[in-house]
Amino acid sequence: MRASDIVKRRWALVPLLLILAAFILSMLCIFAGSKRGYLEEANLFTVNTSMLGRTTLDASKSSSSILKSIKNTIQKDVNEVVSDVAKTLNIHDFYSAHILDYCEGYYTPTPVANLTSQPSKNITHCSNQTSFFHFDPGAVIQSELKPGVNLTDLSWPSAIEDGVHAVEGATDVMFVLYFIGAASTGAALTAALVGVRDVWRYSAITCLVLSSLAFGSLLLASSIATILIGKVVKAINEHGNDIGVYAYKGETFIGMTWAATLLVLVTGFMYSYEFLRERRGLGKSGGDFE
Ligand SMILES: *[C@@H]1O[C@H](CO)[C@@H](O)[C@H](O)[C@H]1NC(C)=O
Ligand SMILES: *[C@@H]1O[C@H](CO)[C@@H](O)[C@H](O)[C@H]1NC(C)=O
Ligand SMILES: *[C@@H]1O[C@H](CO)[C@@H](O)[C@H](O)[C@H]1NC(C)=O
Repeated sequence: MRASDIVKRRWALVPLLLILAAFILSMLCIFAGSKRGYLEEANLFTVNTSMLGRTTLDASKSSSSILKSIKNTIQKDVNEVVSDVAKTLNIHDFYSAHILDYCEGYYTPTPVANLTSQPSKNITHCSNQTSFFHFDPGAVIQSELKPGVNLTDLSWPSAIEDGVHAVEGATDVMFVLYFIGAASTGAALTAALVGVRDVWRYSAITCLVLSSLAFGSLLLASSIATILIGKVVKAINEHGNDIGVYAYKGETFIGMTWAATLLVLVTGFMYSYEFLRERRGLGKSGGDFE
């Protein structure tokens, strides 16, 4: 083998590694949050409900004895500073949305940071992963609330539900685009692997076509995800802060999905360069097979 061939092969590894990284990132984006919060940080957004009802239950005029006893517990808690209203209501401190499921759990040691300790997430349960999943925090919380307590007792605003339902169509489109994006990235990776071993001369053009398709889908998927996360988080904070509900964007997820998109773009450029170079080579001297 000539020295130039060895150099060529070394270079062929660069786009291969980039597309491999893009493939892993896009798979992690899709499957994050499975099995008890594996890669929980890569959530779309988190809803903090640890203080849900703390203010609204006080004002609630309901005469139900369950509500009264919860109210008493909460008031006692407030005096002791440390309080976990969510546990009193039988719900969780936080709920985090992923593409295929949601996870829930408690902040440890407490939901509120103090000088010496920062709360960290302790996941207790994740729902089954399903395609075309829609996360509806109101419905999940209602299903967990202590018998006798209703979302309306907590003044849960319908505007949150409206905000969540408004993005369901976009969520489905996003799911399909992530699926196409990850699948074509995986196919490009396979073509690139074949290309490195030099057994197939159409590798560069195949990789170019597949990585263009992957780039298009991931670009759209990432844009939709970013907009959708912004909208839901804004709706929850706008209407939920008054009743003690806070939402946070999943910055890790946003970083990962855009990193995957960028990697696929760079790989696409490398394959188009490779393709042009191959064509020139073929025209001039009969190609690499002399
Ligand atoms: C959760 O929300 C409460 C306010 O309702 C806030 O005091 C607390 O710091 C938040 N916890 C985390 C971990 O974000
Ligand atoms: C902070 O919280 C931890 C855990 O609840 C507790 O042990 C510690 O005493 C608290 N520190 C202060 C300064 O309140
Ligand atoms: C997390 O939760 C589990 C069960 O709910 C508990 O056994 C474990 O001690 C918790 N971890 C921390 C760090 O609090």
